[in-house]
Amino acid sequence: MSFIQGLLNLNKFKKEGEKMSELKNKKSLVIYFSRADENYSVGYVDKGNTEYIAEYVRDFIGADLFKVEPLIPYSKEYSKCIEEAKQRVGNAPIKNKINDISQYEVIYIMTPIYWGSYAPEIGTAIKDLDFTGKIIRIVTTHEGSGLARVVEDIKKICIGANILNDSIAIKGTDCATARDKIENWI
Ligand SMILES: Cc1cc2nc3c(=O)[nH]c(=O)nc-3n(C[C@H](O)[C@H](O)[C@H](O)COP(=O)(O)O)c2cc1C
Repeated sequence: MSFIQGLLNLNKFKKEGEKMSELKNKKSLVIYFSRADENYSVGYVDKGNTEYIAEYVRDFIGADLFKVEPLIPYSKEYSKCIEEAKQRVGNAPIKNKINDISQYEVIYIMTPIYWGSYAPEIGTAIKDLDFTGKIIRIVTTHEGSGLARVVEDIKKICIGANILNDSIAIKGTDCATARDKIENWI
């Protein structure tokens, strides 16, 4: 590596470091969906995969959590749940709505992949919010699809937001042990 290249890299890392420490200090909200009960690969669980990630971020930076919950709970059985989720795309009523995110600078949106995109209830939760000027960071949990279409689909809804180019996808079965990975990402 040349001397100049070395200086450029140093500058780049310094800027990234500054960006991260600034992010940590901004008032943050995690909007997430996560389902317990029977799921792919994990069997019956008391806590959903995505919830682990939401809680790590709360613990690391003191973010507030908003858990999106379906008005009508999904079936406990995985096979029934996947059929129900397909029917809810575009029509997924939720139990509690968050109406005002004006006090937050950074919004973390965390969702399992459902049929290649976010859980339908996430769409309901975010569609009427004013994201103008907000920083958005996205986490998906999945069993093979990675980020799938989530980033593109969130971009369509969260008009005026600055969606950071650092979205991550965590395998569902790794979530309970992903604390270090999230600490590095945060
Ligand atoms: C209704 C439903 C649809 C799913 N669709 C996909 C999918 O398209 N791609 C994928 O990789 N995983 C899919 N999964 C697996 C989940 O995304 C994965 O297990 C996730 O970690 C579950 O998060 P949770 O426990 O927080 O709800 C699906 C699971 C369910 C229940």
